[in-house]
Amino acid sequence: MTKIITLDGPSGSGKGTVGRALAIDLGFNYLDSGLLYRSLALNALINHLDLNDEFGIAATVNDVSLEFSLCSPVVTLNGADVTDEIRSERVSLASSKIAKYSLVRKRLVDFQRKFSRGDGLIADGRDMGSVIFPSADLKIFLTASVKVRAVRRYKELIARGENVSLRDLERRIALRDKGDRERKVSPLIAGEGAIVIDASEKSVNEVKKEIIHYFDLIPSV
Ligand code: DC
Repeated sequence: MTKIITLDGPSGSGKGTVGRALAIDLGFNYLDSGLLYRSLALNALINHLDLNDEFGIAATVNDVSLEFSLCSPVVTLNGADVTDEIRSERVSLASSKIAKYSLVRKRLVDFQRKFSRGDGLIADGRDMGSVIFPSADLKIFLTASVKVRAVRRYKELIARGENVSLRDLERRIALRDKGDRERKVSPLIAGEGAIVIDASEKSVNEVKKEIIHYFDLIPSV
């Protein structure tokens, strides 16, 4: 049986870094579900599609071929290297918009479930424990203060050469959180049975160890 650890929480809480480290340590697959929404958003931006058109965006789900792997940071979209662009601010904003569409979300369900194979899976996202893998062995909700997340994102964007202000980022992150939390479909909440970890003051290694500790407590593991 494939063991599943879901890792939900807001952007910048460290899910990606912690999730990859966990997957490598445990020898599990890794699903970065945010990349799915990002790839649809980037595809829509590249092809000048209307981001307000839920049906139009949902219709592109099968047009987009996304490749990413645990061992390499490279992400390709329909064969093109989009590693940098897919994490840009414009794609973050666009993906947050299309992630609200229930039609889009429904069409991504089966694709995401297929990542559950082999010994185990670390599933990183917003609705992994609540919607995609409700019977996961361990559900973690990883969070961090808006300030800490804004500083992380600021450093990331500056390193990428994007011109942003920390205050602006803080405001946008708080606004995006609110949208993600209050949306009707798959809202960003710590679902039933999820263990909440606040990573504001913790290193990646500390969070990883804490999760492995909870995982080791599961009787069948
Ligand atoms: O984790 P991320 O920042 O790469 O996610 C990009 C967007 O996709 C963000 O607005 C939240 C959304 N998302 C979602 O709604 N459900 C998921 N399972 C993963 C991401």
